[in-house]
Amino acid sequence: MMNKSEIVNEISKYKQKLNAVILAHNYQRPEIQEIADYLGDSLDLAKKASHLSCKTIVFCGVHFMAESAAILSPDKDVLLPVLEAGCPLADCATPEMILETRKRNPDAVIVAYINTTAAVKAEADVICTSANAMAILKHYCDQQKKICYLPDKNLAAYAEKQMGISIIKWPGQCYVHDTHITKDAVQSLKQKYPDAFVMAHPEAPLNVLELADAVIGTGGMIKLAGSSDHKSFIVATEKGLVYRLRKENPKKQFYEIENAICAQMKVTTLQSVLNALKNYQHKITLQEPIAARARKALNKMLLLSP
Ligand code: 13P
Ligand code: SF4
Repeated sequence: MMNKSEIVNEISKYKQKLNAVILAHNYQRPEIQEIADYLGDSLDLAKKASHLSCKTIVFCGVHFMAESAAILSPDKDVLLPVLEAGCPLADCATPEMILETRKRNPDAVIVAYINTTAAVKAEADVICTSANAMAILKHYCDQQKKICYLPDKNLAAYAEKQMGISIIKWPGQCYVHDTHITKDAVQSLKQKYPDAFVMAHPEAPLNVLELADAVIGTGGMIKLAGSSDHKSFIVATEKGLVYRLRKENPKKQFYEIENAICAQMKVTTLQSVLNALKNYQHKITLQEPIAARARKALNKMLLLSP
């Protein structure tokens, strides 16, 4: 059995040998964040993947994120260390459901969250992430378009309220944000830390977002915490983000929601990253007609992204 530092050394040897880069999402375990070459939100990582010049990307995150990287970087191999690292929110939408919605609303623009499968992205007009959803939805709202947004019902409800419009919504939700990030949990932290600035992810329910000082994705939270004059923050998202927030802002205080843990984000371990490099597994493979259509929707997002 190798110890932690031996595994880390092996990972770096294999990375060099294979010309591989490790991308990791902000919710990953601390030890994975430490070995990552780039850490970010789903938009940062998708963009980064397409700009790298390496041969192989080891993606430490969930399946749809690795798949987005593979769609945008067809010249690279993208490895997902644990194949079972899925996203239950992404499983809330199927391509058939979109086709049905399109049939019923032929004039609607279909905006799919990046937390969807490639097959779903292929049926959408454009993709968005927590970092650009409001800008992309506003773009179509300004054009007086009928909008269908899927699959996250909470982000859709928030956008409806912010823009004063009605969106064709989906009944999908993220169990971490929808179940564990409750109004009571945030209110009790606010009572305990009345001076703390509240940052909430748009996947949280509307009654939580109404308590927030800023509704932003994980990348937005990293930027805001670094640039703000506030000294303490309540972090209403998956608690893995707090490791990075504390590391980058050692003089500031961050208060997390105790039960907000994404089990799928935690299945990736140092050993699984080493296995991925050693055994060259699990390579994301895409069916080209689907990948090409999904790429078109992702590229449209990049074009509209602020
Ligand atoms: P971000 O793009 O804000 O990092 O969100 C990804 C995600 O899965 C949130 O649950
Ligand atoms: Fe999916 Fe929720 Fe986990 Fe994000 S936190 S990866 S939306 S299950």
